[in-house]
Amino acid sequence: MSSIESLISGVGGYLPERVVTNRELSKTVDTSDEWIKTRSGISQRHFAAEGEATSDMASAAAWNALDQAGLKPRDIDLIIVATVTPDKTFPATAVYVQKKLGVPPCPAFDLSAACGGFLYGMSLAHSAILTNQARHALIIGAEKLSCFLDWNDRSTCVLFGDGAGAIVLSAEQPRTAEPPRGVLATYLCADGRLAEHLYADGGPASTGTVGLVRMNGKEVFRNAVEQISNAVFAVTERAKVSRHEIDWFVPHQANLRIIDACAKRLDLDESRVVVTIDKHANTSSASIPLALDVAVRDGRIKRGELLVFAALGGGLAWGSALVRY
Ligand code: UT7
Repeated sequence: MSSIESLISGVGGYLPERVVTNRELSKTVDTSDEWIKTRSGISQRHFAAEGEATSDMASAAAWNALDQAGLKPRDIDLIIVATVTPDKTFPATAVYVQKKLGVPPCPAFDLSAACGGFLYGMSLAHSAILTNQARHALIIGAEKLSCFLDWNDRSTCVLFGDGAGAIVLSAEQPRTAEPPRGVLATYLCADGRLAEHLYADGGPASTGTVGLVRMNGKEVFRNAVEQISNAVFAVTERAKVSRHEIDWFVPHQANLRIIDACAKRLDLDESRVVVTIDKHANTSSASIPLALDVAVRDGRIKRGELLVFAALGGGLAWGSALVRY
C-alpha cells in the first residue's frame, strides 16, 4: 500500500454565459439542428465573451473547485493548466491563473495534449503528490476553442465550445480499513504518426498565426472508439480492478456516438455513463472535468464510487485514469 493517496478533494466548472444553439448556428453555417444532433449529439455550446480569456475561465473553475475542497489559494502548491488555447504563446496560462487566484509562488505550467490534456495533467499531479512534491494540486482543463474555428468548414465549426473544468488533487493518508482511494492508476499514450488527423494549421514557429482547427473526422472517430476503450482496459488492468466494478464512466465529450460505442465495447450500461455533450459540445481538455463537475453536483457521483475517465484528441494523444472518488 502507498503511504500517500491523491484524492479529488474538489471539483469545479465554468461555462461562459453565452449559449449558442444549433438553430442559431444554422443561420450562418450551412447546417441543421437535425444533422448536428444526430451525427454528434450536440444541441448547444457556450462561447466566451469577446474579452474573456482562457485564464479567466480557468480561474473561475478553479475557485469553484477550491471552494468545494474547503481550501484557500494559499494551500495550492502546483498548478497545471491543460489547454490548446493559451492566453499568450508564453508565459503559461497557469501563471495568470496563479496571479488571478493569488496562489503563492509554486510550480505552474501549461500542458499541450489537446483533448487528452486534463488526463495528462492529472497523471503528472498524481506523481507529484506520491513523491511529496505537492500537497494540493490544481489541475485545470480550459479552452476558448471559438477563437480558432473555421466558420467555412461546417464539419468542424459546429462541434466545439468554450469552458473550463478543474479539480484539486490532495495528498491524504490512506485509511487502513478501507480500499485505496483517490487516483488508483493512469495510462497515457500518443502516436505522432496520426498528427495530421487533428491539428491547428498555424503556430508561432510555422505560420506565425494561431491557425484554424482541421480534422479528418472519420479517422479520429475510428481511433477514438478503439483507443478510448483500450485505455480503459489498460487502466483497470494496471489497478487490478475488474471493469465491471466501475460505477461511472466519465469520457471525453466529442461525439455521443463515440461515447455509446465505447460503453458498448466496455460492456457498461448507459445509465453509468456521464454525458454532457448535448449542452457543452466538445470543449477539449475541459470536457472531462466539466462532466465530472455536473455529475458530482447533481448528486449522481458519490464519495467512494469508482470512476474511470478516458479521452482521445489531437496528437493523436489519449489516456485514462481510474479514481476511487
Ligand atoms: O475531441 C477530439 C476528438 N474529436 C472527435 O472525436 C470527432 C470525431 N469525428 C466525428 O465526431 C464525426 O466524424 C463527425 C461528427 C465530425 C462527422 O460525422 P460523420 O458521420 O463522420 O459525417 P461525415 O464527415 O461522413 O459527413 C457526412 C455528410 C457529408 O455529406 P455527403 O458528402 O455525404 O453528401 C458532409 O458534407 O454530412 C455532411 N456534413 C454536414 N451536413 C450538415 C458535414 N458536416 C455537416 C454539417 N451539417 N455541420
